[in-house]
Amino acid sequence: MANIRLTELVKEFGSTVAVKGISLDIENGEFLIIVGPSGCGKTTTLNMISGLETPTAGEIMIGDRVVNDVEPGDRGLGMVFQDLALFPHMSVFENIAFGLRVQKMEDQEVQERVRAAAEALYILPLLYKRPNQCSGGESQRVALARTIVNNPDVFLMDEPLSSLDAKLRVDMRTELKRLHDRLKATFVYVTHDQAEAMTMADRIVVMNGGKVEQVGSPLDIYDTPMTQFVAGFFGMPTMNFLEGVLTSSNGDPIFKSGSLEISLPEESTQNIKDNKVVLGIRSEHVSVSDGALRGQARIIEPLGDASLVYFEFGEEEELVAKVSPELRISPGDQLMFSLQASHCHLFDQSDGHRLN
Ligand SMILES: Nc1ncnc2c1ncn2[C@@H]1O[C@H](COP(=O)(O)OP(=O)(O)OP(=O)(O)O)[C@@H](O)[C@H]1O
Ligand SMILES: [Mg+2]
Repeated sequence: MANIRLTELVKEFGSTVAVKGISLDIENGEFLIIVGPSGCGKTTTLNMISGLETPTAGEIMIGDRVVNDVEPGDRGLGMVFQDLALFPHMSVFENIAFGLRVQKMEDQEVQERVRAAAEALYILPLLYKRPNQCSGGESQRVALARTIVNNPDVFLMDEPLSSLDAKLRVDMRTELKRLHDRLKATFVYVTHDQAEAMTMADRIVVMNGGKVEQVGSPLDIYDTPMTQFVAGFFGMPTMNFLEGVLTSSNGDPIFKSGSLEISLPEESTQNIKDNKVVLGIRSEHVSVSDGALRGQARIIEPLGDASLVYFEFGEEEELVAKVSPELRISPGDQLMFSLQASHCHLFDQSDGHRLN
């Protein structure tokens, strides 16, 4: 079994606490992605699982054994790093076979394993090239193949796509997902790219400042972010946030921010005690083609399949709406906008936790 359990894991580097007590159950065969901003402790967490770093406190279990004191090579893990570290003087074949040769595996089996891995990653035609004759994406796949040949139950990957250009990164996402389906191994994957996490993960762990902010499926996290940090981290463009107060009019809840007033669904505000809130709304839930509120378009960013309209209202407040490109809005245009009340997220102004 290749399930992993982290219990109250802590890592200190001198006075820096890189990981501040993480507990997490990773299921056998799961594609789990740890995502968060630079410096939040992702690599440190992964390195404690692999054994490259020793935890200051806490426990790591792989399957049913505690591995805190087990050497990295004896943990049954395969690692893929950002830095591919292919040997330039060896063919692709020998790069992939390297680990097997070290184990003195019989040549017949080496041949079979390397070919199977190369086939899985569509690099059979490259086997007798040198790494410097491969493109970035091909090298990335060679590095993956080098890990696959060892048949690990668990793959640990630290930003393995970061050296690729934007288009290739997107293509490799689909390939990695396909590979995961085929191998049925446990993947623990680290990235700072929210789109990568959204598209590939079975489950996402969002880290911030050495702690876990939220764990959930991609759509759970997108639709119901439990903190303002998570809400702002996922989605392009960043969610709109407005500071304001909750009040009521004829018994119905209302959010007020400057001149803006929005009626909210009653059930969403029932349990909210403090009335100082941050209202969050994604750009796709802001309409600029109908509504009762007045704004003025400032900047239009065409994305092709949609356009982002940044507009001002009230006293220099700004919102962004994602709209159909057919709307043909130009900077300076007056527009009437509305926010979809059922898609408003409410957060506590002091600590950012979700209120509705
Ligand atoms: N060997 C080390 N010695 C001292 N501090 C370290 C060491 N390794 C990491 N840190 C610190 O621990 C924190 C977490 O680092 P880590 O590398 O885990 O971040 P990360 O989330 O992987 O970031 P990135 O996205 O930039 O790779 C950072 O503040 C970093 O400076
Ligand atoms: Mg890192």
